[in-house]
Amino acid sequence: MTDFKDVISESLKKEIEDMTVEDIKSLIEVPPNKEMGDYAFPCFKLAKIFRKSPNLIAEEMAQKIETTDSITKVINLGGYVNFFVNKDELAKKVIRQVLSEKEHYGKSDTGKGKNVIVEFSSPNIAKPFHIGHIRTTVIGNALYKIYESQGYNTIRINHLGDYGTQFGKLIVAYKLWGDREVIEKNPIQELLKLYVRFHEEAEEKPEMEDEAREWFSKLENEDEEAKELWQWFRDESLKEFQRVYDLLDIEFDSLAGESFYSDKMPAVIEELKEKGLLQESKGAMIVDLEDENLPPALIQKKDGSTLYITRDITAGIYRKKTYDFYKCIYVVGSQQILHFDQYFAVIKKMGYPWYKDLIHVPFGMVALEEGTLSTRRGRVVFLEDVLNQAAEKTKEIILEKNPNAGDLDEISKDVGVGAVVFQELSNSRIKDYTFSWDRTLSFEGETGPYVQYTHARCCAVERKANEEITSDIDYTLLSDEDASDVLKVIETFNKSILLAMSKNEPHIVTRFVLDLAQAFNKFYHNSPILVDDPELRKARLALVEATRQTLENGLKLLGMKAPKQM
Ligand code: ARG
Repeated sequence: MTDFKDVISESLKKEIEDMTVEDIKSLIEVPPNKEMGDYAFPCFKLAKIFRKSPNLIAEEMAQKIETTDSITKVINLGGYVNFFVNKDELAKKVIRQVLSEKEHYGKSDTGKGKNVIVEFSSPNIAKPFHIGHIRTTVIGNALYKIYESQGYNTIRINHLGDYGTQFGKLIVAYKLWGDREVIEKNPIQELLKLYVRFHEEAEEKPEMEDEAREWFSKLENEDEEAKELWQWFRDESLKEFQRVYDLLDIEFDSLAGESFYSDKMPAVIEELKEKGLLQESKGAMIVDLEDENLPPALIQKKDGSTLYITRDITAGIYRKKTYDFYKCIYVVGSQQILHFDQYFAVIKKMGYPWYKDLIHVPFGMVALEEGTLSTRRGRVVFLEDVLNQAAEKTKEIILEKNPNAGDLDEISKDVGVGAVVFQELSNSRIKDYTFSWDRTLSFEGETGPYVQYTHARCCAVERKANEEITSDIDYTLLSDEDASDVLKVIETFNKSILLAMSKNEPHIVTRFVLDLAQAFNKFYHNSPILVDDPELRKARLALVEATRQTLENGLKLLGMKAPKQM
């Protein structure tokens, strides 16, 4: 099967000895409009090698390169060699491939035999799973799917925040004011209340802090009562988190959170000591990171208790031993950049070369339209409520648009939740953004519902046609501009996934499905599909199916559903 860029690169290579075919290929662009050709190669970098103006180089090359079955015309346009390709071949190549590979279209086995850990979500026990958590959860899930699609053996870890001094506080508060039944009805809200009350009252009675420390140290020493309460807080919180994961259809391979490493930390602290990295500072134990231009990492407090970073260091070493990862990716907000820099630096100082394979994938903050989120001020927006509201609002929209659209509840959930997911993956992840209902749920513009609607539209056409779709068609019937535009987008699917993977940026796939939906809708508006001419109808239906399949595959990579009706 021909890939036009390969054919073009090969023909250019004959004229440019000093560059590899790969380098040539990476420079090939798509010109801004069709009249200029299908692909363009810029000659500016060649000016030095050939000691000629780019324009002259492009002119000479355009003359020399011969036309073939695939390349129909070559011209010089202001220092670019522009190529026109045979559109029937493009159609044949793309449609045959999509229709035969089906749900595998876009996949590869690039990552075969390599283990990649994607750590994401990682909420804190007894604290709300709020809209701020959605980013790590959704970005992480998309990254997991992207790596998996390229053949990596991918492990999803939810590094639960289920350990630390706050559990001492919670135990004290529970013993003072807690009521088991009340908590079981509404665990996170009630536990949060206890936590907040602890802080309020501890301001007056600082001895409560000592009591909390004592309870945490009891927990560390496996005291029965402390453990039982901790386990219960954890179980109740997880039940609530699970509801959110169910709504998003997200699973994990491991829930080994911070507590999992409690018994593994002493050995690591010992190792740090042996390697001469641990220093005393005001009674606490630190690793000096001055030569890495970072503040010291606090490993152990004066009272012997360990810290967040101690657990991350321990988890890193454990994961390397257990999974021998090729990459270990942490999808965690940008507020923790310093933390990860310090943690990675400690691993480097310990002499582990795999510190280079630890990757922090940071992201910006979500604000609500009315203002910023804050747990302390009690203005928490629970993610579960946001997702349920999205489904509710979507239901209203669908009832208006298409009241007979099948299982309304299911479709509303798929579309509403999908809209929130899509919105999260719409911009480069580091950008802060403001969550807006109108923008998220609109069926028009660059939204999830728009892409899902395009997919449903393809399904509707196919249902109406009610005939077998095959790639045994007359491909010259798909060589017009609108059809070629759709095919050119479909052709770049795998490349987009690879780019999204190399940058850990799912929004590149989001952009891809939007581009495809837009190109298809243009084709759809200009070219009636269910025409009388059976050959033309067959050809256009094949394009509809190739689009539908690619949209479905793309949406699934993002962690979204592709409903057949909406
Ligand atoms: N539980 C933490 C939080 O909500 C995030 C954990 C990130 N992962 C890690 N390995 N440190 O802020």
